[in-house]
Amino acid sequence: LTAVRYPEVKRGNYSELTDRHIKFFESILGKDRTLTDPADVEAYNVDWIKMVRGQSRVVLKPKTTEEVSAILKYCNDETLAVCPQGGNTGLVGGSVPVFDEVIISTSLMNQIISLDELSGVLICQAGCVLEALETYLSEHGFIMPLDLGAKGSCHIGGNVSTNAGGIRLLRYGSLHGSVLGVEAVKANGEVIDCLSSLKKDNTGYHLKHLFIGSEGTLGLVTKVAIHCPPSPKAVNVAFLGLNSFDDVLKTSISARRKLGEVLSSCEMLDHVTLDAVTSNLNLRNPIGEHPFYMLLETSGSNGEHDEAKLNAFLESSMSSGEVLDGTVANEPSRIQYLWQLRERVAEGLVHDGYVFKYDISLPLKEFYTIVPKMAERLAGNKKFLRCCGYGHIGDGNLHLNITSKEFDHDLHNLIEPFVFEWTSKLKGSVSAEHGIGFKKTKFIHYSKSDSSLNMMHDIKKLLDPKGILNPYKVLPK
Ligand code: FAD
Ligand code: MLT
Ligand code: ZN
Repeated sequence: LTAVRYPEVKRGNYSELTDRHIKFFESILGKDRTLTDPADVEAYNVDWIKMVRGQSRVVLKPKTTEEVSAILKYCNDETLAVCPQGGNTGLVGGSVPVFDEVIISTSLMNQIISLDELSGVLICQAGCVLEALETYLSEHGFIMPLDLGAKGSCHIGGNVSTNAGGIRLLRYGSLHGSVLGVEAVKANGEVIDCLSSLKKDNTGYHLKHLFIGSEGTLGLVTKVAIHCPPSPKAVNVAFLGLNSFDDVLKTSISARRKLGEVLSSCEMLDHVTLDAVTSNLNLRNPIGEHPFYMLLETSGSNGEHDEAKLNAFLESSMSSGEVLDGTVANEPSRIQYLWQLRERVAEGLVHDGYVFKYDISLPLKEFYTIVPKMAERLAGNKKFLRCCGYGHIGDGNLHLNITSKEFDHDLHNLIEPFVFEWTSKLKGSVSAEHGIGFKKTKFIHYSKSDSSLNMMHDIKKLLDPKGILNPYKVLPK
């Protein structure tokens, strides 16, 4: 077997799947939860962005931690490599096999276990879809502390395993703060119970953090305990037009100062990005055409107070000329419409054909410089369609995307490693929120020291000595 388009990656010394293995899986899950028909397996081999394709012959769909434990123990004893998969919305090729790894899907591990309405702690299985959790919580007066465009498909276990960021991180912080506990199964089948539901618990090493953001390389997350904030009483969204990136920066800083505790999102997109959404997805730009756009959201407990704050902020931003134009919404359907203009960017770009996707953290002063620089570099290439920048400016996280009709080697070589060298020179991160997955292992050293990488290898050896969990991902060779 060779990895499609990645001939330099060699298959590890793992066993090949046989009928005997399939029989064992069927003895635990039955035939209906052991998928072997190539037509059924196909979708699990291809990632959301259609950038990588694995060659697995089997998908397993456990329902319980005990089933996961039995499967992993067996795979470890038999030296079968496995690929944990949640909603398969990951953007770095981590969620699909590279060769013939056994896919373990959490799609049937979708039970909500408990919600403590006093503390707001939700405990659920890893395969719960983020949007389903949000709907359940809204009926009880709470929200999830994270939100992202993939909410309709991604699983909370996938979110935890990628340490997903998204559009609420600015307000509620990263999952390293809001996830209070996890239950995970090690490669050898041992269940690690770190499912604390306490906000404060300094009893020894904080082991849950090993599973937050380790992208299925250290264990398979089976349950999550997460701290959920109360539903805000009032939500307002402002969609703004601006003339320059300098104005975007000034507006984001004054939004933080003037909207303070009610600011819940601070997002930006340039006009090339908005064009992908309006042209490719048929969404209408609700304001005039401008070089840059911002989406700000406030969430608070007193509608009048929040609106007064937002209006005062907008008045001063418009009178100073930092914001040229804007529209504000406070009713749910209009809010949802404005959010689509930002949340559906990834989908809009995919319609161009192929997307070269970069997700970088940069110092705010240099947040946008790379976008025009890159556009200039690519201008002469015939396959090049679009170079755009958007992202979570409130968190210093830029999404730099380049599109073409199809994958092109020359274009690829013009972009990489330039983008990583640029980011490293500015002491940024080559992966702000999407992770390393399969696509970025070669570039992790741009953001991680040798000593950190050595320690990562040591931890991997300790938890997964045979290296069966999501091989070819995260760790460089
Ligand atoms: P998958 O894609 O299935 O898997 C992701 C990784 O986690 C893989 O390495 C997989 O092996 C591992 N994994 C999955 N489940 C488990 C488990 N139970 N135990 C151990 N390992 C597991 N990401 C952001 O951070 N912010 C965003 O704003 C954002 N927006 C997005 C918008 C769109 C439209 C799309 C398509 C993606 C977006 N993403 C974003 C990326 C992606 O949605 C997130 O990384 C998400 O957390 C992945 O969840 P998933 O269930 O789909 O995981
Ligand atoms: C986003 O913020 O829209 C997501 O991270 C997806 C992407 O980067 O395209
Ligand atoms: Zn993002």
